[in-house]
Amino acid sequence: MYSQGLIGADGRTEESPEFLEAFQRRIDAEEKIEPKDPMPAGYRRTLVRQIGQHAHSEIVGMLPEGNWITRAPTLKRKAALLAKVQDEGGHGLYLYAAAETLGVSREEMTEELLAGKAKYSSIFNYPTLSWADIGAIGWLVDGAAIMNQIPLCRCSYGPYSRAMIRICKEESFHQRQGYEIMLTLCRGTPEQKAMAQDALNRWWWPSLMMFGPHDKDSAHTEQSMKWKIKRFTNDQLRQKFIDATVPQAEFLGLTIPDPELRWNPDKNDGRGGYDHGPIDWDEFWRVVKGHGRMNRDRLAARRKAHDEGAWVREAALAHARKRKARAMAAE
Ligand code: 3HC
Repeated sequence: MYSQGLIGADGRTEESPEFLEAFQRRIDAEEKIEPKDPMPAGYRRTLVRQIGQHAHSEIVGMLPEGNWITRAPTLKRKAALLAKVQDEGGHGLYLYAAAETLGVSREEMTEELLAGKAKYSSIFNYPTLSWADIGAIGWLVDGAAIMNQIPLCRCSYGPYSRAMIRICKEESFHQRQGYEIMLTLCRGTPEQKAMAQDALNRWWWPSLMMFGPHDKDSAHTEQSMKWKIKRFTNDQLRQKFIDATVPQAEFLGLTIPDPELRWNPDKNDGRGGYDHGPIDWDEFWRVVKGHGRMNRDRLAARRKAHDEGAWVREAALAHARKRKARAMAAE
């Protein structure tokens, strides 16, 4: 399991009430916590958990879209999708590197993922059945990711917030290329528009689940808000996403698959917002617990890639060892 707790400057585990109060004062003063700073064990554990799962999500998230790179309808679409999938790999790299600043190794995190012990976002356990799914993923999944990731740029932990600033710069391209695919399909033949509607029908609810359980059922939100790891709660971000996305669906001429969706002028302190129907949390937990349609395929693909990439890791490590030996011999 990940290295637990953290050692303060003098080597002691810092959990005294005085330390915890002093730490919270730093958080409240909007100071950034850096890797060498003393921090409560729970703060570190929460970050290792969240950043590790975030990194896994980026890497596993390459698979559903990677499935369509060879089937993209034009060279332009193929180039955009290739660039996006490559970006996601880079996002995983930034995030694994951010997690490593907390003392956990990439090998540990990878082993946990491959062993099926680590979580990643449930959304990536759904199949991509048509080209319209690639549009829906960019529009909805990356749209939800942006809603969730922009506030993380202001996370109290320095390396995570800096990684998110880099990542968010690329996410807007991801969302826009997806929406443009949907717009092209909706302005195409009736069959193409029907394909876009079918994709919206299958990706809408799983995209809402990306924000996590309702706040009342969330194990971590209250403390993560106190530590300013989270700047908004799960439900607040989900609501922002719904309010931003419904007009986009209307512009496309598509119908959100929620018969209870309706504008409520009193919501959001009188600014108005959409009420929506109930989310199927049984489905959510079924998928999170490994029983989604694609969970087994995603892990099998990751294990195969890991095995087939062993020679690259060995070569890179051998080269690094040789360079280190040469540098030491030259000293
Ligand atoms: N999928 C899988 N597990 C989920 C989940 C989801 N969509 N939402 C919540 N969970 C899990 C949590 O990990 C937690 O389980 P754990 O204690 O075993 O870790 C449990 O459900 C309770 O949920 P909480 O809301 O209390 O947990 P968090 O406070 O961690 O909030 C979160 C969940 C909002 C997803 C938060 O972890 C977060 O903001 N993570 C960083 C962003 C992220 O991972 N985004 C998702 C995918 S990245 C992406 O989409 C890439 C893009 O480029 C396509």
